Amino acid sequence: MRNPFTLGIAQKNDFCNRKKEINDLLQHAKNGDNTVLFSPRRYGKSSLIARIIEQLREEGYLTVYVDLYPITSEQDFISRFSNGIFKGIGRGADTRTIADRLKNIFSRLVPSLEVRPEGYNISARFDRTSQTGLLLDDLLDGLYKYVKKEKLRACIALDEFQEITELPDSKKIEGILRSQIQFHKEISYFYIGSRRRILTDMFTDKNRAFYKSAFSYTLKEIARDEFVPFIEAKFRKTGKVCPSEVAAKIYDTVRGYPYYVQKLSSIAWDITIRKCTDEIVFESYTLLLTMEKTDFEGIWGGLALIQKSVLKAIAKEPTTSPYSREFLERHRLSIGGTQKAMDVLLSRDLIEKDDEGKYRLTDPVMEAWLRE
Ligand SMILES: Nc1ncnc2c1ncn2[C@@H]1O[C@H](COP(=O)(O)OP(=O)(O)OP(=O)(O)O)[C@@H](O)[C@H]1O
Ligand SMILES: [Mg+2]
Repeated sequence: MRNPFTLGIAQKNDFCNRKKEINDLLQHAKNGDNTVLFSPRRYGKSSLIARIIEQLREEGYLTVYVDLYPITSEQDFISRFSNGIFKGIGRGADTRTIADRLKNIFSRLVPSLEVRPEGYNISARFDRTSQTGLLLDDLLDGLYKYVKKEKLRACIALDEFQEITELPDSKKIEGILRSQIQFHKEISYFYIGSRRRILTDMFTDKNRAFYKSAFSYTLKEIARDEFVPFIEAKFRKTGKVCPSEVAAKIYDTVRGYPYYVQKLSSIAWDITIRKCTDEIVFESYTLLLTMEKTDFEGIWGGLALIQKSVLKAIAKEPTTSPYSREFLERHRLSIGGTQKAMDVLLSRDLIEKDDEGKYRLTDPVMEAWLRE
């Protein structure tokens, strides 16, 4: 029997129902609003957005999904974005009708059709020496014209959106995107990313183009009462048993962090012959720690001494008041150094503030590793 757990994008039966999130986000899209979707890495943003896009597509929306990781240049950005939009426009068309659909919409971007035995591939060609701004205007104007002409609604998801800030002329690109997007009520956008500080700055800094232009939505862990039965069912469907209190143990051990829940379940499933137990979960967790260790060591090695001390202190003792005298004394930290280090650790998303206002490590497994 194949291992029923997955570390990739969760699709179809691998997708544990995020009912509320799906509802909320669909609502934003249908209202024509734009949304920033944030969560730490591997929380399920891409899986969730794929669901949303699929749903909207079934309802007749023109949908576009673009992964901006990694973009290496402005041309690369234009190329990915326009390929995504061309594909969105072309969806459902055959080699004959696609040319018609794309005719007279764009002036600088030229559709390029590559026919293959299994279908065709559509992409955009353009003069690489053209100004990025002109190309972007052409792309978004063209899309808008098409949407209007066909009386459609559209939804565009830009995954790993923070990557555009890495481009040399990113401020200009932000400006052009914003000026186009704000007039297009028929088109809603999802900006998705895992770098909280960078995204927050983009959308809350008065001097930035995207200032207050989108709803902000933070994706949390998958709810316990959805994920625990999901784990049980996966075991059951593959002829094994995982009692609900053991499935809950898996969930709690990694704080419901979707990627780790899948990974820990997967390891436990491999070890389980027939029935999963607490001991198996414990053994699996030890294995998980060993697997993740190299990554953690890499991150650890890149930190300054004081950052290491603060990270370790927070791992050992998540706290609402890292600057209190007691906390600093207990961990032998200085106030000035701790403040600076906290800033770096927060901006790198190694630390986060939880719902109770407590600073803790974003990654529960790294936290356990540091406690050892
Ligand atoms: N709804 C879900 N049900 C079950 N597992 C899920 C769900 N969403 C995500 N996962 C699991 O979580 C992990 C991360 O998923 P995904 O790649 O969608 O997250 P992400 O936030 O886009 O990650 P990244 O920051 O790396 O882009 C995968 O192992 C995936 O199987
Ligand atoms: Mg992703």
